[in-house]
Amino acid sequence: MGNQNNIQRMFKPTFGNRPEQYIGRDGVIEQFMEGLREPVGSRNRCTLFLGQRGMGKTALLLELSDRASKVGYIVARVTAHEGMPKAIIEQFQLNGSQYFKDEKRKVTGVTAGVLGFSFGLTFSEAAERQYGFRSKMSLLCDKFAEKGKGALILIDEVRTSAAMREVAAAYQELVGDQKNIAIAMAGLPHAVSSVLNDSVLTFLNRATKVELGTISTNLISAYYEHSFRTIGIDASDEIVDRAALSTRGIPYLMQLIGYYILQYTPERGEVTNAIMDKAEKAAMEDMEDNVFMPILAPLSDNDKIFLKALAQCGGTVTTAELQNVLGKNGPAIQPYRKRLIEAGIIEAPRRGELVFAVPYLPEYLLKESDI
Ligand SMILES: Nc1ncnc2c1ncn2[C@@H]1O[C@H](COP(=O)(O)OP(=O)(O)OP(=O)(O)O)[C@@H](O)[C@H]1O
Ligand SMILES: [Mg+2]
Repeated sequence: MGNQNNIQRMFKPTFGNRPEQYIGRDGVIEQFMEGLREPVGSRNRCTLFLGQRGMGKTALLLELSDRASKVGYIVARVTAHEGMPKAIIEQFQLNGSQYFKDEKRKVTGVTAGVLGFSFGLTFSEAAERQYGFRSKMSLLCDKFAEKGKGALILIDEVRTSAAMREVAAAYQELVGDQKNIAIAMAGLPHAVSSVLNDSVLTFLNRATKVELGTISTNLISAYYEHSFRTIGIDASDEIVDRAALSTRGIPYLMQLIGYYILQYTPERGEVTNAIMDKAEKAAMEDMEDNVFMPILAPLSDNDKIFLKALAQCGGTVTTAELQNVLGKNGPAIQPYRKRLIEAGIIEAPRRGELVFAVPYLPEYLLKESDI
């Protein structure tokens, strides 16, 4: 257990952190960055990323934040809680302040500068008092434009709420006013569930929707190889491949397996199959607690019975097989099917067929008798 410092650097199996190295998703990132180069209001400038737990939504927003900052955007990154509009303004003031440091308080006449900023990005008392989110954003965008900067809002854990409604409405108005603004949101697959029906849903549905699935196991394999070499532990090609394949392309699982491999391998030692067994087992326990359980928690007992039946059939399952196992007819199955597809737990590769969309979830369902 001698690799403590390196483990902390190379693999961070916790949620919401910035990975040591961001892997894959080049196409997704490029598409959004391209949007930032397109005219205000173009569709890619308003993107919604949807993905299951541990697929790397938060990590992606962090990556976008970094890249957008480098090409002239001031970024506000928030989660979609009730205080979001205020938090967005504060983030812009905080992250933009470095560009407006040398701006002294303006001597204001009776007519000029009564509303707006007192100095830097600090609003005047009148603006603070009288202006709401949209107007403050408008002032900030104009201010940013003076320095050739745009405004990028990143919203994590997106869901419908009054706060989200306010931000969505303001975004559309700001685009209408030709402000250089863009927005990227990330959420669980059912953030755009059809049972929701309000203005936020319309806004989310108009956004460019991007599904965050698994990442390439070839890239994961290359990263493992590189990490083990950097740290100075031996791993044969077979072991590296075994580790990469075990992740099934789930970013969180990649971090977990990497972390436990380093944890169990002695300094300058070799990664053996026995170490792999242990690492995979420990990683899977964390997956159960932090991915599978939270995915299943909001489901009804009948949803779970449906999923268990699907797991028992194994692989790609036809609706007919499922009807047999459940002893129900097609129309009775339909609502479960629809809800679980929307929740991103299962998917229909072809008409009349269903598969699990979450790797390892069927194995977990079969193993746990008390779900
Ligand atoms: N592309 C990537 N390359 C390397 N590591 C990644 C990548 N994407 C995510 N990770 C890592 O995977 C783990 C989970 O990612 P993250 O916290 O972004 O998931 P999430 O989708 O936001 O999950 P949740 O829905 O539970 O919030 C983190 O440790 C993160 O650093
Ligand atoms: Mg997250």
